[in-house]
Amino acid sequence: MKKLIINMLKIILPILLLAAAPGITTPATPKATPKTAPEKVSPVCGPYVQNPEPDGFTVLWETNMDAMAWVEVAPDDGSHFYNRDRKRYFDLRGLGNQYIGTMHKIRIDGLEPGTTYRYRIMMKGVLDFTGTGNPRYTKPWGNDVYKGHPYTFTTPAADRDTLRFDIYNDIHQRDADLDRLMKAAAKEKPDFVLFNGDMTSSLISRDLIRDTWLRTAAANLEGITPMYVLRGNHELRGRHASAWMDYNDLPEGLPYRTASWGKFFLIFLDTLEDKPDSDIEYGGTMLSEPYLKAQAEWLEKVVESDGCRNAAVRLVFAHIPPDRNGWQGDRNVEEYFVPILNKAGITAMFCGHLHQWRIDNPGQRSSANFPVVINPNCRRMEVTASPEGLSLKVFDLDGAQTQSWSCPAR
Ligand SMILES: [Fe+2]
Ligand SMILES: [Fe+2]
Repeated sequence: MKKLIINMLKIILPILLLAAAPGITTPATPKATPKTAPEKVSPVCGPYVQNPEPDGFTVLWETNMDAMAWVEVAPDDGSHFYNRDRKRYFDLRGLGNQYIGTMHKIRIDGLEPGTTYRYRIMMKGVLDFTGTGNPRYTKPWGNDVYKGHPYTFTTPAADRDTLRFDIYNDIHQRDADLDRLMKAAAKEKPDFVLFNGDMTSSLISRDLIRDTWLRTAAANLEGITPMYVLRGNHELRGRHASAWMDYNDLPEGLPYRTASWGKFFLIFLDTLEDKPDSDIEYGGTMLSEPYLKAQAEWLEKVVESDGCRNAAVRLVFAHIPPDRNGWQGDRNVEEYFVPILNKAGITAMFCGHLHQWRIDNPGQRSSANFPVVINPNCRRMEVTASPEGLSLKVFDLDGAQTQSWSCPAR
């Protein structure tokens, strides 16, 4: 028995001693092998410019990976961009943190009206950020200002008395057609471009907006010409309809908004779907009424504002035109918005949606006391406005003029 106990102790003791030794009781967890070839960060869409104001503008772009981003801004004073450190603007959506994501929206503010600035987009990809305070970055990337040129942007002058803009709508994902239309207009430099809805047909994936028109639009506008984007009824459709908000800079978080360009006051409306919410096409996803009501309350305040009342010309933009005998969407515009707009002295309203050219004279199809201009699908409408009135031309895919129209201001 004594011999048996001694033999058992010979086996157990070394194990107990080994277990008691510090640092070797638990095998260390193998460390993750660091990536040997870091990915490079680069833009996959943009930059593009939205919400131009006399004192600022917003630069947006998408990166191929999660990144932190900033914009460097320099005056257009003839100095080289590398002349000195340039003022940096960051994405403030991190609310105290640096914002990390693939979609970057950076507001440049504190600028002088009617002044040209140069800018450069900058980013560093975030490779690993699994713990706390240990992010690992790619080498930073910025657009070339050594041999290449920085982007430029001119803030709207407060006293400007002409306005030139182009409208595209109802492209419905025909990216090549949009490219043709925009390339044909490349020599024309409008003050801004409006994409007035139905640029896509159904947002069945998040990337559809980028891949079917936005990347093309951004490339043609070269980070210089600002764009406004409104939703068409088709941008309400699909599981990824909310991606539309990701790709746009929404003041107050809302698609409807106003803008002032010198003597011109612009109202952008969000007209939602075209059929009743209960229609089988929407599968129970629509909830129009509270949103339209809130928008109408906002519009009441807009038409009473000094900006609207003091402007020489007031223009309205919306995807769906008003029509008292039309579909639910047309009737919504007629009933929610037109009575309010009738108090404002609107010169004209610009719509799409119908896929055909049409001018609705005041009172013709709605109670509007202003004309409603409907741009056909896959066309470019070129508008010139002054305090005397406005004139427009419509061009087809071959660059041939197909329509023209003009009206006095009121
Ligand atoms: Fe359409
Ligand atoms: Fe439409």
